[in-house]
Amino acid sequence: MKKVLSGIQPSGQLTLGNYIGAIQNFVKLQETHECFFMVVDLHAITVPQDPADLREQTESVAALFIAAGIDPSKASVFAQSHVPAHAELGWLLTTLTNMGELERMTQFKDKSEGKDSVGAGLFVYPALMAADILVYNADLVPVGDDQKQHLELTRDLAQRFNSRYGDYFTVPEPYIPKVGARIMSLDDASKKMSKSNPNAGSAIKLLDPPDVIRKKISRATTDSGREIKYNLAEKPEVSNLMSIYSLCSGMSLEEIEAKYEGQMYGGFKKDLAEHVVAKLEPLQTKYNEIRSSGTIHEILKQGAENVSEIANQTVRDVKERMGFLMPR
Ligand code: AMP
Ligand code: TRP
Repeated sequence: MKKVLSGIQPSGQLTLGNYIGAIQNFVKLQETHECFFMVVDLHAITVPQDPADLREQTESVAALFIAAGIDPSKASVFAQSHVPAHAELGWLLTTLTNMGELERMTQFKDKSEGKDSVGAGLFVYPALMAADILVYNADLVPVGDDQKQHLELTRDLAQRFNSRYGDYFTVPEPYIPKVGARIMSLDDASKKMSKSNPNAGSAIKLLDPPDVIRKKISRATTDSGREIKYNLAEKPEVSNLMSIYSLCSGMSLEEIEAKYEGQMYGGFKKDLAEHVVAKLEPLQTKYNEIRSSGTIHEILKQGAENVSEIANQTVRDVKERMGFLMPR
């Protein structure tokens, strides 16, 4: 069975973008692949986190994985920091990574732009992400569009290691959905919907109550036209809303265009809000059940136990190949 791995940072409440771009695919892939789904807490601390919030968000993201349909009896669900091999391989790969490669990363440029002080962790972050993937020799990495560049670097690092120290790592492939790989902000269709955007109206959070979802969608920016047509270049806001509509309703973009031909934005937005609410309500109910059952700790513990041996073996193999004196 091919291996699938992905991770989400517990750095804020997850958005509909995370769900559509990533988690929905996790759920699909668990049926046909050996899956590793992580809450990447070590990545979250590359920007300052309040300790209590970090703990809460880590548990919350894990519970959302399960609520969204990830089945811990099929996929390993764990916290990155519970498997120390990630950090160790991360360091080993950092030493194979060039400054220039890291300087080119657009996520680093975006997150560091305009800041007086930027942590070194934010800079070397992609080497840790490469370690997450390579430590299990994953074949496939389901992510949204913004992670493509990090995946490219992961592939380069795997190939670099293989050519220096002999073939060892699987060179992973990205798995990026055709529709929904980049859900944009509701207030600005030039920015991706993000959990860290300070404008609350910009993102639908997975745990937003129905009325909040309705309000956010009714206030979403549109253009001054009146046609409900998918055209990313000329109608980016309406196109983004149509993508969300399509992904939440199961209707194709053409079907949506046909349904709303000659109609105004108001009715379309109202229906869209109901589709989003209908999509998220069962997830929210399940989320509340899981949180109150207190089972997340056990799921994460089991997940880390399942995967630790593979990860530890990879680190031993890599160290041996790199020339470390191995304890006997
Ligand atoms: P992050 O929120 O950065 O931890 O991202 C977790 C996963 O969700 C990654 O695979 C991202 O590519 C994906 N993702 C985040 N935001 C979006 C978005 N607006 N549209 C589609 N995918 C997204
Ligand atoms: N960098 C990813 C993000 O910001 C999160 C991540 C960390 C990840 N390690 C990973 C994604 C491994 C896929 C595979 O979204």
